[in-house]
Amino acid sequence: MNGAENSDVEIVPISERYIEGYHRCLDSVAREIKYLGFVKAPSIESSKKFVSSNIENDVPQFVALKGDEVIGWCDIVPGKREGLTHCGTLGMGVHKDHRRRGIGTRLMERTLEEAKVQNIERVELEVYASNSPAINLYEKRGFVREGVKIKARKLDGVYDDIIVMALFI
Ligand SMILES: CC(C)(COP(=O)(O)OP(=O)(O)OC[C@H]1O[C@@H](n2cnc3c(N)ncnc32)[C@H](O)[C@@H]1OP(=O)(O)O)[C@@H](O)C(=O)NCCC(=O)NCCS
Repeated sequence: MNGAENSDVEIVPISERYIEGYHRCLDSVAREIKYLGFVKAPSIESSKKFVSSNIENDVPQFVALKGDEVIGWCDIVPGKREGLTHCGTLGMGVHKDHRRRGIGTRLMERTLEEAKVQNIERVELEVYASNSPAINLYEKRGFVREGVKIKARKLDGVYDDIIVMALFI
C-alpha cells in the first residue's frame, strides 16, 4: 500500500511560503481532538513565530505537499537549555484524508535524517495511549516506551495515559 500511492506527494523542508498551509493542516488534525496536545491550532501568529524560528535555527521541520497543499508535517525541536541540546522533541501529523499511505513514514524518516545532521542524538515524544496508529508507527521505527504518565489527559471527563517514548539516532 505504501509507495506508489503517495508518489505524487513531496517531502520538503518547511519554508515561509508553507506556513499558512502548515497551520491549516495542524488545525485540522488538532480539531480531531484525539491526537495532539491541543484541540485547535495556536494562532497563525504563533505558528509563524514557531516556523520562522525553526528556519532561522536549522530546526528539522518538513512538510508533505500534494501540489501546493500541505497535507502533513514533522518537526524535531532540540532542547534549548545547556545539557539538553542533544535531545529533540518530535511532533507530527498527516491530514486525515491522506493517512495510511506511507506519508507519515516518509516525513519521519526525512526529519530524523536531518536531526542526525543537526547532531540531535535522542529523539523523544509523548503520545496518548489510545493513539495506536502513532504508537505503531513509532515502534516500527524503533522508538521504545520509557514510561507512562497515568491519566495525564482528562478531556470531557475521559482519561487517557500519556506514553513517553524515545529513540537514539
Ligand atoms: C500517526 C500518523 C502521523 C501516521 O501517518 P500515516 O501517514 O498514516 O502513517 P503511514 O501510512 O506511514 O503508516 C506507517 C505505520 O504506522 C502504523 N499505522 C498507521 N496508521 C495506522 C492505523 N490506522 N492503525 C494501525 N496502525 C497504523 C502502521 O504500523 C503503519 O505501517 P503499515 O502501513 O506497514 O502497517 C497519522 O495517523 C496521524 O496524523 N494521526 C493523527 C495525528 C497524530 O496522532 N500525531 C502524532 C501525535 S503523537
